This record gives sequence, structure tokens and C-alpha cells, in this order.
Amino acid sequence: MTPEEFRTYGRLAVDWIADYLERIESYPVLSQVSPGEVRAQLPARPPERGEPFEAVLADLEKVVLPGITHWQHPSFFAYFPSNASGPAILADLLSAGLGVQGMLWATSPACTELEQHVLDWLAELLDLPAAFRSDGPGGGVIQDTASSSILLALLAALHRATGGAARHEGVRGAGGPEGQGDRDREGYAVYASTQVHSALVKASIIAGLGAPAVREIPVDPTTLAMDVAGLREAIEADQRAGIIPVMAVATVGTTSTSAIDPVGEIGEVCREHGIWLHVDAAYAGVAAVCPELRWINDGVGYADSYCTNPHKWLLTNFDCDAFYVADRAPLIGALSILPEYLRNAATESGAVVDYRDWQVPLGRRFRALKLWAVIRWYGTEGLREHIRGHVAAAQEFAEWVRAHPRFEIAAPHPLSLVCFRLRGGEEADEANAALMERLNASGELYLTHTKVNDRVTLRLAIGTTLTERRHVEAAWRRIQEAAAALAG
Ligand SMILES: Cc1ncc(COP(=O)(O)O)c(C=O)c1O
Repeated sequence: MTPEEFRTYGRLAVDWIADYLERIESYPVLSQVSPGEVRAQLPARPPERGEPFEAVLADLEKVVLPGITHWQHPSFFAYFPSNASGPAILADLLSAGLGVQGMLWATSPACTELEQHVLDWLAELLDLPAAFRSDGPGGGVIQDTASSSILLALLAALHRATGGAARHEGVRGAGGPEGQGDRDREGYAVYASTQVHSALVKASIIAGLGAPAVREIPVDPTTLAMDVAGLREAIEADQRAGIIPVMAVATVGTTSTSAIDPVGEIGEVCREHGIWLHVDAAYAGVAAVCPELRWINDGVGYADSYCTNPHKWLLTNFDCDAFYVADRAPLIGALSILPEYLRNAATESGAVVDYRDWQVPLGRRFRALKLWAVIRWYGTEGLREHIRGHVAAAQEFAEWVRAHPRFEIAAPHPLSLVCFRLRGGEEADEANAALMERLNASGELYLTHTKVNDRVTLRLAIGTTLTERRHVEAAWRRIQEAAAALAG
């Protein structure tokens, strides 16, 4: 493709995105295709001769779009949002245009330094502890996802807990800091509430500890926050059995209900027992851009590591997870490997950060560009407005639900997720599932479910970039109509 052709087709592609976002409300939110329907329309073999880019755009409309669930649709209320915005899309395009691979400072100094700087900005915007800033022993790095951050936190925690032995001997051989002799993978434990994201179990499997190493601590049945006495008991029971407690995860905004663990109390227990504390604020953390919501950071000063996803709720296209450590040494200690072919003067000078040591893969995209563009385009005021609008809409939605005789609120809703259901005890489970199916099949909105205290519960997660109060109002109208139709 020549630069001239690129200019022509680039304009077409950008126009296509602008048109798509303009007409997005005309599509059913949830894709209505059956399994295999998209592939059935694709040629079995790749083309022998090149095709014009118009042909790709035509098939995007005809073949791909019907198989898209429109995450940017303002009536997308499922899971947690995955924000996109004009400045982020454009900056992602610029990143693709530069096409740099920022594994080392030397492979594109701006890729590393802009990332360090933007993550310092984000730490300031969220009022995170000074220890996470790049001018001390800690610092921030962009990961693809919160799942990667949990894994990295665990690898760093294992490195610290084993005095570095996990790196050389694997978890089977590592005897712990006091050299307690060989221990197999059953010798380590990690702690989190029953509400923790499944990424923790996955991380434990990948780190070689296995799924059983994860101790699920009970939660308070009303707040769904971790019971800290239960955490202490579990840690002490493990210690009596000769098991090394490695890491605890406190969640700020659980996936199921947005419950908030008592981070400070958990932090005190961790500090007392020398356990790594990771705070997973994947969805909720960015809300701290609003001073009135900064209470969600209470206790984060205890954290050894922390993550939040601007790609969920801060206008930045997937993928962008901001991961911070209070001390980078255990992370780098766990992951750093320097083969001959990566040696360079800048690395050897010790004056630069090489982000390849802060993540699992070697290669990395220039993701900081999109977060930089978002922060500059919206400014602190614009980011706050984005969060505040959604929180206000969620609080209003919760009031409507509460005032309705057939519905009830199922969990606290401090931010932009509201968990609600038809009243009626266990017998209502089927009706709630049927209600969700009916709503999603209508194509007018999309929401997903969870179980709260074992009861089927619907989740309305407000947070897409285009969602306004009127979309939430329309969703509530549709929910009431569908419930009335179900009741016959
Ligand atoms: C609290 C929490 N942690 C982790 C994750 C996993 O996120 P990711 O897709 O970034 O790995 C989620 C996803 O919703 C989440 O809500």
C-alpha cells in the first residue's frame, strides 16, 4: 500500500468508524447470529491475488457487523464496560502507524518514558500513594489486562516470599526465606474473598501453585466484603501447618457486585504477617478521579501492588490496565532475564527502565499513547464528568428499582453497577433468568447476571462512553414491560 493509497483508505476507515458510532443505536446490542454463521460466509481459502481495501470494508459491513455485540452501544449494560473514545481510537491508530516495539528503553525511548510519565499522571489523578510513582523504588506499567497484573503480583510476591529461590528452583524446590528445606507446591497459599475474580485461580495455576493454593475467605452476606477475621484465621492455620502465606488480594469493586473489601484492615493483617497485598481495582479504581469517590482508595497505602483498567471505565480502548508496584525490585527480580542479543549500553548504565522486565511477554505495544491522548483531550474535568454521570444514573436507577413493588436491590451499589432482581426468594430464580433472556433477545439492551447469596440476580453496569440518563431510563421502562409480559 503506497502512502497515497494509505491516505485514501485511511480516510475511508476513519469515516467508517465515525459513521458506525453515529448509527450504533440502530443495531441490536447483542449479536443475534448462531454459532458458525460468520465463518460460513468466509471463503475457505485465502485469496491468491490481493484485493482492494474496499472489499474488506464491504465484508466488514456484510459479514462482520452482524456478528458483533456492540460494546460501544449506549444500552450495553452487561459485564463491565469496555470504553472507547475518539482520542483513544486515533491514538491507537497512531501507535499502529509508528509500529514500535517497546521491549527495551533503547528500542524506542519515548515508548517507555511516555508510559512512565502518563502512569505518574494517572496516579496523581487517582490520588494513589506516592510509592507508586516512578521517581521512587516503585512505579507503574501498562499491562494488557487485570488478569496479567494479578499474575505478575503473584510472581513478585513468590519471589519475595522465597527470597528469590522460586526463580532458581521453581516453587517445588524453593524452601522459603528461612530455608525450610524442599517444599512442594502445596507449601504456599494465597488469600482472597469468595468474590475475587477467577483470574486469581488462573494465576495460581500458571505460577505453579495450583488452584487449591487459593484460600477463599468468606464475605459479609450484606456488604459482600471480605471478613477480615476469616482472613486472619486462614493465614494462621496455614502458618501452623508450615505453609507459607504468599499474597492476599483485596478487591475494590468486585466483578459480581462491585463490593469493596476493607483494604486497610486486610493491609494490616498482611503487614503483620509479611504477606504481599495486591489490590485489584480493575473496574472501580478509575472512579477515584472524582474527589468525592476517593474513599475507595482507603487503605491502598498498604498495597505492594495495585491495578485499575482505564479500558473498562476511563474512555481508553482495550487494552490498557495500569499496574503499579510500591517496590519494583521483586517484580524485576522475578522476571528479568538478559540474553546476549538484548544487551545494550542504556540497560547496562542502569539509568533506564526496560519494561520487558515488568511483564510476561518480551514485546510490547505503545499503549501509553492512547491513555495520554485521553487524559489530554478530556482533562481532569472531563474525566470526572464521565464517571459522575454514570454514578448518578446508577443511583437513580436503584431508586426506581427500590420503589417498584415487584423488584428489589440485591447488593450495595456505591458506583455504577446495580444488582437487582424480581422479588420472591428462590422460586424467582427462573423468572429472573427468563427476564434477562427476554430483554437480551429484544436487542434493545444487554445485561448479564450473577448470583448473590445463591440467588439469580441481574446486573445493570452503566459505563459505556455514549450512555446517558435517557438510555438508563429507557432500559428501566423495558425491564418493567418485560417483567409485566412475563407475569402474563
Ligand atoms: C475485579 C476484576 N478483576 C479482574 C478482572 C479481569 O479483567 P481483565 O479482562 O482486565 O483481565 C475483572 C473483569 O471484569 C474484574 O472485574
